[in-house]
Amino acid sequence: MVTPPSASIIEGIQFTATAAAPNAITGLFSRKEGPVKVANFLDVDRRGFDTIRGLVRKYGPGPFYVRVAAANSILVTDPEDIKFVLDGSPSKFASNPAKKQAGMVVFQPDSLTLSRSPEWEGRRSFAEHVLATGKPLHPFAGRFLEVAYDEADQLAAKGTITWEDINESFQRLTRRVVLGEAAARDKQLTEILQSLMAEANGTPGKVGEQYPELLHCIARYTKEPEANSLVALIADAPGKIYGPVEGQVIHWLFAMGDTLPANLLRTLALLATHPVKLTLTKEEIAAADLSDPQSVAKLDYLAGCIYEAMRLWPTTPMLARVALEDVTFPGGATVPAGTDVVIHNIFNHRNGDRIDYADRFAPDEWSKGDAGKDWGFNFFSHGPQGCPGAGLSIFLGQAVLARLLQNHGLEDQGSELHPGKPLPYTLNHFTTTVGLTPTV
Ligand code: HEM
Repeated sequence: MVTPPSASIIEGIQFTATAAAPNAITGLFSRKEGPVKVANFLDVDRRGFDTIRGLVRKYGPGPFYVRVAAANSILVTDPEDIKFVLDGSPSKFASNPAKKQAGMVVFQPDSLTLSRSPEWEGRRSFAEHVLATGKPLHPFAGRFLEVAYDEADQLAAKGTITWEDINESFQRLTRRVVLGEAAARDKQLTEILQSLMAEANGTPGKVGEQYPELLHCIARYTKEPEANSLVALIADAPGKIYGPVEGQVIHWLFAMGDTLPANLLRTLALLATHPVKLTLTKEEIAAADLSDPQSVAKLDYLAGCIYEAMRLWPTTPMLARVALEDVTFPGGATVPAGTDVVIHNIFNHRNGDRIDYADRFAPDEWSKGDAGKDWGFNFFSHGPQGCPGAGLSIFLGQAVLARLLQNHGLEDQGSELHPGKPLPYTLNHFTTTVGLTPTV
């Protein structure tokens, strides 16, 4: 049996301070504007990156132990080892280690992402049916396109896109897509979810007091589902879900409403500061038929731009797993059952020792290159537990951005990204603002 190498206690303290703790301080489940600003100012993500690069050069590229606070965890950075972990999730590696469970249980105790067998299998096939995972187009893509264009037009009318604007717009888009038109103005539902998510940051380890109220609010739309909304697909979905259906819907609301707009605002900032790539994107859009969902889904260069924003500034900074049995990694290292495993996306996505475009905006690597096959990039994760909403997210993103860019140029308002300089490790979405300039 080969035991993986171990970073020293001092290195563990450094790792905890620069690469693990900032994630908790800025908000594990709901980002907090003040701490994000401070972290940005202190260039915290760069410090974390530097720490991990030093450790990987010393102990890697295979898995090695590093202390995260008091617990010894295995850090996995090599794509082959990452594939081993994610391909083995959730059977060998469960995705509800203690901290994630203690936070997420507040607002989604029955969620797929916290589930282990046999609940996971039932809930997963249910989710894959509703979200049309792996299909070229969602069956309701035509309706979703209309919603996306309506929201994009409302955003365009403002002339400038701030986080506040795009977040409000996507929270409404999310309610319309997931629950139907009747939920468009139901801000109260979103507010309850946001308040529970903020509570989850404290990892209290128990279901939030407002959770029953959230289920009740969602049930208003699941009882008599509106045609062409995601909840309309629930009745025919296979899979035993072990609990109320509303308990599954919560993850869809939070991932589409919060995560997606942060990624899209960053995509706009990248395009606003990279004129050549903006021109290529606009040419691709001009050649497409935006009334046809299939044509929108084929905007590969635009999709590459969105993937790049997600690679450069992953909204899931790290993935956490716990080994359910003794496991032997492909290189021969063995770790015992109960070991926590960390996949640090911020490091892996920017590892210049492996990726030559690590710090630049490279949509071509997705539209023409092999980036899509690289298990080192896990903003959507990979394997059996990979994000089942990835296809739908990218489609909605393509739709909103294509509509905005069809008749507008972009003007950066202070992001300070530059095509000639390495891109920074943090891009604070709370303060990112992009101007729209009419082109027709
Ligand atoms: C840009 C937007 C999104 C990003 C970056 C994202 C990212 C991710 C990631 C990284 C995971 C794996 C988490 C882990 O294993 O620890 C995940 C899982 C999941 N995502 Fe997404 N997601 C997005 C949008 C969505 C949407 C819109 C939906 C549904 C409508 C969705 C539904 C799910 C579900 C249900 C899981 C749990 C899968 C499982 O455990 O089997 N996601 N997502």
